[in-house]
Parts: sequence; C-alpha cells; structure tokens
Amino acid sequence: MRLSQLFVTAACISTTFAWNTFTVAHSPGQDDTPALVQALPDLAANTSIVFKKGVTYNLFTPIKFPVLNNVEIVIEGNLTYPEDIATVQGALSWDHKLWNATETVTGIYLAYAGHQSFPGSWLTFSGGNNVTLRGSTDPQWGWIDGHGQAWWDAARGTSGLANRPHGIAFSKITNGVIRDMKLWKPVAWNFATSGSSNLHVFNNRIHAVSNSDAFPFNTDGFSAGGQNMLFEKNVVQNGDDCLTVGNGAKNIVFRDSYCQGGHGLSIGSLGKGGQIADVQNVMIENVVMVSTLYGARFKSWTGGNGLARNITWKNIAFHDVPFPIYVTQNYWDQNTGPMPNSTNLNNTHIQDFLFENFVGDIKDTPYVEGSCVTDPCWYSVPNATGKEVAILDLYPGTASNIRAEDIFARTQSGASVAVMCDPKTVDSDVGFKCWDGTFIRTPGGL
Ligand SMILES: *[C@@H]1O[C@H](CO)[C@@H](O)[C@H](O)[C@H]1NC(C)=O
Ligand SMILES: *[C@@H]1O[C@H](CO)[C@@H](O)[C@H](O)[C@H]1NC(C)=O
Ligand SMILES: *[C@@H]1O[C@H](CO)[C@@H](O)[C@H](O)[C@H]1NC(C)=O
Ligand SMILES: *[C@@H]1O[C@H](CO)[C@@H](O)[C@H](O)[C@H]1NC(C)=O
Ligand SMILES: *[C@@H]1O[C@H](CO)[C@@H](O)[C@H](O)[C@H]1NC(C)=O
Ligand SMILES: *[C@@H]1O[C@H](CO)[C@@H](O)[C@H](O)[C@H]1NC(C)=O
Ligand SMILES: *[C@@H]1O[C@H](CO)[C@@H](O)[C@H](O)[C@H]1NC(C)=O
Ligand SMILES: *[C@@H]1O[C@H](CO)[C@@H](O)[C@H](O)[C@H]1NC(C)=O
Repeated sequence: MRLSQLFVTAACISTTFAWNTFTVAHSPGQDDTPALVQALPDLAANTSIVFKKGVTYNLFTPIKFPVLNNVEIVIEGNLTYPEDIATVQGALSWDHKLWNATETVTGIYLAYAGHQSFPGSWLTFSGGNNVTLRGSTDPQWGWIDGHGQAWWDAARGTSGLANRPHGIAFSKITNGVIRDMKLWKPVAWNFATSGSSNLHVFNNRIHAVSNSDAFPFNTDGFSAGGQNMLFEKNVVQNGDDCLTVGNGAKNIVFRDSYCQGGHGLSIGSLGKGGQIADVQNVMIENVVMVSTLYGARFKSWTGGNGLARNITWKNIAFHDVPFPIYVTQNYWDQNTGPMPNSTNLNNTHIQDFLFENFVGDIKDTPYVEGSCVTDPCWYSVPNATGKEVAILDLYPGTASNIRAEDIFARTQSGASVAVMCDPKTVDSDVGFKCWDGTFIRTPGGL
C-alpha cells in the first residue's frame, strides 16, 4: 500500500459519523407501524432500523420509506400482516412525507389499498444509496408472514383477488443489498427492484406454498428491473415466475438458486402494446428447477418493438417440467380471443440467446397446472405433443443467433423427446433440427 493511500484511509476513520440504531417498538395487539413511521424522518441516514429477535411485530399498514442513505433494515423478529383479507384491502398507507406529528392520526393516513395513490407494495423503498434489507439466518425468526393462504383459498377457480398488495418494492436504490430475507405465504408478488442499480440479492427464501388445492397466484419471486444486479443463493417456492427480467434491465446475473412450483426463469413479457423493449446482458446459471411449468422462458407480445440481446441460461437442472425451454415472440392474452393476425412487421427482436447444458426430465404425462382456470389453459401450445424440450415460437425475420447446446432430456413416459421450431423463422443452426418433430441434435448443439 502506498503512503498516500494510508493517509486517505486514516482521514476516513477520523471523520466517522455517529451511527444510529433504532429498535422498533412493539405493543401486543396493536399496529406497530405508526410509531416507526413517525420516527422515519430521523432514521433516513446512517441508521440501523432493527426489528428485534423474540418479537412478532404487527405490520398492519403499508409503509413507504423516505429516501435512505446508509441505512440498514434488520428483520430479526417476525413480522405479520393482518390475517384477514378485508383488513389488508382496507388498510391505509403510511407515507412518511405526509406524516405530521402535530396532526391527529386520521390526518396522516394516505389512501386505501385499492386507491390509486396506494404505493402498491406493503413495504416500499424508493430512492437512496447504500440501503440494506437484511433478514435473519435463524430458521425460527425473521419471517414476514403475509397470511396468503386465505387469499389463495378465496380466489379458488379464478386468477386471484382484486386489491392485492405487492410485497417489497426496492426501487431507485443505488448500492443495495437484500439478504437473508424470508417471506412466508406472501399474498402475491414478492421482490421488485425496478430502477435500482448495483444490487446484491442473496440467501433469500420465498415460501409461497399452498396447503390446500388453491393455487398461490402471482406470487412472483424476483422481478428484476434496473442494472447491475447479482441474485444468488435464493430459494423460491411459488406460483409464478421465479425470476422475471423486465424492460430496461441490463447486466443481470441470477445464479446458484432453487426454484420450485412456479413459472420459470423468465424474460418479459416485453413489448406489450407496441412498447419498445431494451434488455441486455442477462446470465442465468446453475439453477435447479423442480416441478415448475417452464424452465427457461422468454415472452414478447405480438406487435412489440425493440431488442432483447445477449441472454444466456446455463447449467439448468430440471425435474418434472413440462416446458424446459420456451421462447415466444407471439405472446397474446388468451382471454381476449384467438391470436391476432399480425399485420405489423415490427416485433421485439431477439438476438444471441443461448441455452446451454440443460439436464432433466420432461413432465409429459397428463396434468393440469394449478394456474389453469380456462379451457384451453393459458399455457397450452397448439399442436404441441407435450414432449418438447424446446419450443421456439419465433416471429419471422426478428430472431438471430438463438441456440441450444448440450441439451440432455428425457420424457417421464419414455417417449422420444420432441421440439417445435419453424425453419422459416431462424437464421442459423439452433442446435437441433428445426422442425415440429423429434429432437435431433445438430452441430450447433454440441
Ligand atoms: C452520514 O454519514 C456520512 C459519512 O459516512 C456523512 O457524510 C453524512 O453527513 C451523514 N449524514 C447524516 C444525515 O448524518
Ligand atoms: C453502508 O451501510 C452500511 C450498513 O448497512 C454501513 O455499515 C456502511 O458504513 C455504509 N457505507 C458507507 C460508505 O457509509
Ligand atoms: C401537516 O402540517 C402542515 C403545516 O401545518 C400542513 O400544511 C399539512 O397539511 C399537514 N398535513 C400533512 C398531511 O402534511
Ligand atoms: C416466525 O414466523 C414463521 C412463519 O410464520 C413461523 O413458522 C415461526 O414459527 C415464527 N417464529 C416464532 C418464534 O414464532
Ligand atoms: C453478454 O453478457 C455477459 C453477461 O452475461 C457479459 O459478460 C458480456 O460482456 C456480454 N457480451 C456483450 C457482447 O455484450
Ligand atoms: C386470421 O386470418 C385467417 C385467414 O386469413 C382468418 O381465418 C382468421 O379468422 C384470422 N384471425 C383473426 C384473429 O383475425
Ligand atoms: C417499426 O419500428 C420502427 C423502428 O422502431 C418505427 O420507426 C416504426 O414506426 C415501427 N412501425 C410500426 C408499424 O410500428
Ligand atoms: C397445427 O397443425 C395443423 C396440421 O399440420 C396445421 O394445419 C395448423 O396450422 C397447425 N396450427 C398451428 C397453430 O400451428
């Protein structure tokens, strides 16, 4: 180390600022959020906000945090949402900006969950630098319990109730960490990172598992929007995408993780309503997919625009998965009728997609996945046999360099593995014979 660096280091140490630790108070039977929200303006910098171990806090109203700088939120105790649906739907949101200590409690309430000014998530972080959201590694503590089972049961046979809050928005944050967080039966959507950059999201656990025949609709795991994010060592058991990478995302790595029961490692949907998509440099690797509907998945809407490029799914072990690799540039809302005849020559272009080293078994025995509430099911693919390891549903002239390499699959029934691919839509060797038929590896697949 050079002498000048030593001086710099010493100078930093000599100007350390006071670090504040705030332990959230708990009153049995009461909502613990008002006291916290009242204190928030003083906790927005250089502070640890601690939910202490040994306490189950009542998180009965949504919280919108102020812009935070050098703040960690430490969840060592348990946190619980209200248990009944009506209370959550009717919950009023606390917004630090509207907090006014001189006003009565009624004066600071913001909006009902169903109201348009409701922040949308139960916990909203929006803006800031060096923000850490940390749970606990103690298996008994640090859980946020959303009591989602009641919501799933009440929605049985439909695609979910109205006025469902999202879980945790972690938006517009630079240099953030989300670690050791544990979500127990969330109502719906879990983590969303839109507009953030430089995030490390690791060792988190989502347990959206139903113990009835009701499906945990829309319990998406990680919704990655923004740039420069590393997601690793996360465990997600849920009923929607394990990962979804949204428009504008760049330099996203998702690795060393486990996904069970949901809808796959997804990019999209992109290009809805003609939107211009821009997604680049995504690496998804070393993931185990168990009983998920899809393994690797890409979806863009018919009639979209823009480009998704340089996306790799690598080292994916899958078990009991009906659609290990599924790409569609022709996504549409099946509820609104048959697929539209596209007269628009534009579409979200895709380029440099690699599916590398996929090993596992295809669920090709009859099944109805829990999210199917229509006939045909939303995921049904016309003319598919159910034995396809890869379905490339591409739009002519808009897909380049799409390739699957080292694919080792078998069907559960023992039938031959198949693929679907229209040779008119591809510009290069996709790694297997591009047709609707048996999987036959080509030189590009070696
Ligand atoms: C927080 O600490 C940093 C130094 O790490 C200092 O520059 C800043 O002024 C502090 N902010 C407040 C509000 O104390
Ligand atoms: C960032 O926040 C952490 C707490 O999460 C704190 O220990 C660290 O000092 C902060 N970094 C800076 C540069 O202030
Ligand atoms: C808080 O107090 C200020 C000053 O009295 C007032 O203008 C404001 O409307 C009050 N309420 C809210 C919700 O900000
Ligand atoms: C914390 O919450 C989780 C999930 O609800 C629960 O399984 C666990 O038993 C709770 N811990 C304690 C000590 O009550
Ligand atoms: C493609 O993405 C990877 C990250 O997955 C990155 O390391 C690489 O530089 C990107 N390549 C190009 C040509 O952008
Ligand atoms: C698409 O075009 C075909 C024949 O050109 C027609 O039979 C079909 O009804 C059209 N579908 C829609 C959704 O417009
Ligand atoms: C197709 O995309 C180009 C480039 O983004 C744009 O200029 C044009 O208006 C689009 N055409 C249609 C029909 O959307
Ligand atoms: C399904 O296969 C039939 C027979 O080959 C063909 O006429 C039809 O266009 C196919 N449908 C789709 C949606 O690919």
